[in-house]
Amino acid sequence: MAYYHRLGNIPPKRHTQFRQPDGSLYKEELVSSKGFSGIYSNLYHIHNPNNVLSIGEPTPYNWEPAKEYGLKQTHLKTAGVQTTGKDYLSARKILMMNSDCMMGICAPEERKMDHFFKNADGDELIYVHDGEGVLYSQFGKLEVRQGDYIVIPRTTIYRFEWKEEGPLRLLIIESHGPIETVKRYRNEVGQLLEHSPYCERDIRPPGALHTEKEKGEFLVKIKKGGMLHPYTYGHSPLDIVGWDGYLYPYALSIHDFEPITGRIHQPPPVHQTFQAWGFVICSFVPRLFDYHPLAIPAPYNHSNIDSDEVLYYAEGEFMSRKGIDRGSFTIHTGGLPHGPHPGTVEKSIGAKETEELAVMLDTFKPLFVTTEGLNFVDPAYPMSWKE
Ligand SMILES: [Fe+2]
Repeated sequence: MAYYHRLGNIPPKRHTQFRQPDGSLYKEELVSSKGFSGIYSNLYHIHNPNNVLSIGEPTPYNWEPAKEYGLKQTHLKTAGVQTTGKDYLSARKILMMNSDCMMGICAPEERKMDHFFKNADGDELIYVHDGEGVLYSQFGKLEVRQGDYIVIPRTTIYRFEWKEEGPLRLLIIESHGPIETVKRYRNEVGQLLEHSPYCERDIRPPGALHTEKEKGEFLVKIKKGGMLHPYTYGHSPLDIVGWDGYLYPYALSIHDFEPITGRIHQPPPVHQTFQAWGFVICSFVPRLFDYHPLAIPAPYNHSNIDSDEVLYYAEGEFMSRKGIDRGSFTIHTGGLPHGPHPGTVEKSIGAKETEELAVMLDTFKPLFVTTEGLNFVDPAYPMSWKE
């Protein structure tokens, strides 16, 4: 994260004696990245964070790339999927992946988790397409709602509680590298610059600490190496009385992303919202269209020679695409040009604004549809430009 935050009680000096009311020491835990050279936070536990009661048998939790799928422009229709599993983990359906990231959907039936989750394989970026709830983690309570990106650094122990009313649908991205704000929008000390589409005021860290003092049996499912490892601890992992630092989960609403527009068509980098190793995340939000007198609002055909481009369609009409629904993914792959569907370029001329809302993921290594993703393929899409 790009700025310092603290919640609860912490000692004035790190790594010094900090005592509980009964005179015993709080247990300090440094959570640090990049071998003590990246961002970090210091957490103070009531109980020993290593107090493991039992370790269960690991179970596979991974997806397989469909490498025989071939070179095709792809449309995955996921709109009809209402529930894809019972709980938060079994409902995750990863539809595409490479060695840098995975992307998929999650529409769980259960709104409350009866265990904690810890992803030790990667940072998570969760886009709340539908739903409203609370993320409880060691860093406190974070209220989240439709349109939020939730960035959860790896090894954060958390559970979600979603409201029972209304649909619940999440877009899930897991990243091998850290998910960060965009470097070109930061100054030399990390502050977001004037030309950044969002700033620190838009970033919402946990608002209040949530401390659970209870002892008992608390299950944490830890994802590591494509396996789920069940760990049972003798206390709640949310036993934190205070923390400070730069590493914590936070939310940023797509509705707080301020679009950059121009006289002629602006390229996707103006929509960039996050960066990670091997991919970027962009937000397409409601905005005014290009205002040159001869402007063409629809995008031009383009060949991204070294990237695969995924769009997740959240809301609104997409003027350059036909047959796309809310919840659709398109994957426009490197090696083939892509562009507007026939008729949509002329139709776009004169349009003043768009209400579209979409999340884009561009990878720099080839991205594979998973065997799970094959269930959602629209077979007509590769030929849908035929005139
Ligand atoms: Fe594109």
